[in-house]
Amino acid sequence: MPRIRGRNLSVLYDPAEIAARNIELAEEVATAGYVDLLVVSILKGSFIFAADLIRALHAVGLAPEVEFLSLSSYRSGTRSTGEVAVLRDIDTDVTDRDVLLVDDILESGRTLAFARNLMLSRGAHRVGIAVLLEKPGKLAQPLQADHIGFSSPDRFVVGYGMDVAHAFRELPFVGVIEGDGPEDVAIDVSIVTEGSQKQD
Ligand code: IMP
Ligand code: MG
Repeated sequence: MPRIRGRNLSVLYDPAEIAARNIELAEEVATAGYVDLLVVSILKGSFIFAADLIRALHAVGLAPEVEFLSLSSYRSGTRSTGEVAVLRDIDTDVTDRDVLLVDDILESGRTLAFARNLMLSRGAHRVGIAVLLEKPGKLAQPLQADHIGFSSPDRFVVGYGMDVAHAFRELPFVGVIEGDGPEDVAIDVSIVTEGSQKQD
């Protein structure tokens, strides 16, 4: 069991599984028939997934444009409070474009619903959603991802871009901090941030 920052982590999805799944997702995206595709990576949590997915898209013969949208959901510890804000916008006009939003996790759906509505309100022709992980049963509103890497257990995960207070993003696997329920992780976060924080 990897030990990082003095904590034991169990591996949920290892690098080989993730890489294999990324190729399958890319094939799915290719089959879905997006035209003149613009990939929008939602920062910060999706940066590693998006980097791997766009190279998988290249491997299956696609040539997307790539943009970045930095969003923040206000969270208290590990719980979402519902507010979403744009921290840094994309530069590209999405009018009549096919857009694929790429994010790390679909949980309450608030982040992706916000991003999807933003793209549609700007006249995007089609907005697809690709996520590495989905946590089933947690949606606060109806939202369907089109391309899902893995259906994740309802635990707070880290690694492969995902963080607790910006730590653990560098891990090449997706893991869970053992010996802690999400509440205990929240306590750790509150020590670092003293209260509510923005999470991406
Ligand atoms: P949603 O708006 O509730 O769907 O929240 C999704 C965002 O919350 C994700 O993009 C992540 O940045 C963050 N998030 C949700 N669950 C986790 C987790 O288990 N680990 C790390 N980040 C998470
Ligand atoms: Mg995120």
